[in-house]
Amino acid sequence: MDTQVEEVNGVKEPLSKKQKKKLMKKQKWLETKQERRKKEKLKMKQKRAVAKAQGLSFGPDRKKLKQCTMSGSSCKQQIVVDMSFEEFMMEKDIGKCAKQIHRSYSANRRVDNPTQLYITSFHGQFKEILSKNIGYSNWDLHYRTEFYRECFRKEDLVYLSSDSDNIIDKLDESKVYVIGGLVDHNAHKGLCHKLAVENGIQHARLPIDEYIVMKTRKVLTIDQVFRILLGVTQGKSWKDSFLEIIPARKGATDKDGSPDNSEEEQVEDASKSSSCNSVSTPSAETDVENGNEVSAPKDMETRLENIEHTDPSL
Ligand SMILES: C[S@@+](CC[C@H](N)C(=O)[O-])C[C@H]1O[C@@H](n2cnc3c(N)ncnc32)[C@H](O)[C@@H]1O
Repeated sequence: MDTQVEEVNGVKEPLSKKQKKKLMKKQKWLETKQERRKKEKLKMKQKRAVAKAQGLSFGPDRKKLKQCTMSGSSCKQQIVVDMSFEEFMMEKDIGKCAKQIHRSYSANRRVDNPTQLYITSFHGQFKEILSKNIGYSNWDLHYRTEFYRECFRKEDLVYLSSDSDNIIDKLDESKVYVIGGLVDHNAHKGLCHKLAVENGIQHARLPIDEYIVMKTRKVLTIDQVFRILLGVTQGKSWKDSFLEIIPARKGATDKDGSPDNSEEEQVEDASKSSSCNSVSTPSAETDVENGNEVSAPKDMETRLENIEHTDPSL
């Protein structure tokens, strides 16, 4: 009889019932992967045909997607995902990181003027995982094997961290905003902030408390942070960008509920001109538990998920 074994501390031990079940499930999932992909592709094709027949739009036009490149973009805002945290992540979390970068890339190519999106420390396991996504090398991203500090001038860098006491007020195209490529389920709380401080790099957090009320922690995912910044570079106010991207389950609500908030107008104007950055000092943390719950639009997320399953080159 073929007994399945696993190696624990160099000793081969038989698999438990639970482990066997898990292994079989994984094998089945792998065996049916291609078939599932085919089915999903067909389903998307049919949906696209139906939408076309009804004169409805089904996501962005592929031709237009190809035209909206980083090199042709009028937006020169540089945003970096620092992938130097591999040693702090388990393989499945590196996989999650790759997925979040995929989402960021997909969002970037869907705007008229994409930001200049960099992936630094691009090597190792992360590169391997991304390589499984056929065509990743054709993605319109600036890949750099070097550490982020070797790619930019130190004085231009602003490391983003929810643990920073500095607050980004406006985005500044002369600055390079760095997002930590770390999925850690809060196991390494404050790590990015600590490293930025130790290395004398400017740091700042997003102005979440200044515009919205959140019932949960203000630590966002890589793609949420990127998409919020992206929205602002495209002329959205911070508030609108937060409410659109932060998932409803995080309980994000408008801070004052007033549509003609003069503070918001100011920021919107400033972000449109994309002029200069200021990193301001923190204001008092607000603890408001009331307000209407605003659902973040899910359509983009759903579309990205669909695309992810159907078109591996995206
Ligand atoms: C999941 S978080 C990683 C949390 C990690 N424990 C750390 O030390 O930052 C991924 C990255 O998103 C960015 N980020 C998340 N929430 C943020 C916020 N509220 N303000 C600024 N950056 C944020 C940071 O760059 C962070 O490194």
